[in-house]
Amino acid sequence: MVIREAAAADAVGCGRILYAAFAAIANQHNFPPDFPSVAVATDVVSMLIAHPGFHGLVAEEDGHIVGSNFMDQRSPIAGIGPISVDPAVQNRRIGHTLMQAMLDYARMCDHAGIRLVQTAYHNRSLALYTRLGFVTREPLSVMRGRRST
Ligand SMILES: CC(C)(COP(=O)(O)OP(=O)(O)OC[C@H]1O[C@@H](n2cnc3c(N)ncnc32)[C@H](O)[C@@H]1OP(=O)(O)O)[C@@H](O)C(=O)NCCC(=O)NCCS
Repeated sequence: MVIREAAAADAVGCGRILYAAFAAIANQHNFPPDFPSVAVATDVVSMLIAHPGFHGLVAEEDGHIVGSNFMDQRSPIAGIGPISVDPAVQNRRIGHTLMQAMLDYARMCDHAGIRLVQTAYHNRSLALYTRLGFVTREPLSVMRGRRST
């Protein structure tokens, strides 16, 4: 597997995986997907790759993209995410490698700290981040539906 910097031409491959990976885990927990379609996910990835304030990495196997990871660098505390790995090849340490590569890059950039947000139902990513040294700071709630008056 090769980890390299994301380029504009990667948006379609990364967008397909971003949608599929988040939709798969959300479906398992009966939640709506974080990204409503492949098209929206691809637009998000295109924006992240083009934006000078973000750093993007892709994982490639045999010339095919199998995952990506992004980091918001617009403040002293860098923000990692979204990270996604093709559901067909998850559980083979690709996510771990993408996270480690981004953490190495963040340390090189001398950020004061690194944060991320993850959904409470995703035990695997919680385990992955905890083993990499992240500490849970606070719960966040996402409320959907009509506002009551
Ligand atoms: C999160 C994600 C990127 C991980 O990618 P991956 O390539 O499958 O991950 P890895 O194989 O490198 O590591 C999986 C980690 O999950 C943990 N894990 C694996 N199986 C687990 C299980 N059954 N229960 C709990 N934790 C488990 C382990 O800690 C493992 O890391 P380790 O091998 O260093 O101990 C991938 O599952 C994904 O794309 N998910 C959908 C998108 C998403 O949720 N992104 C994160 C949002 S914040």
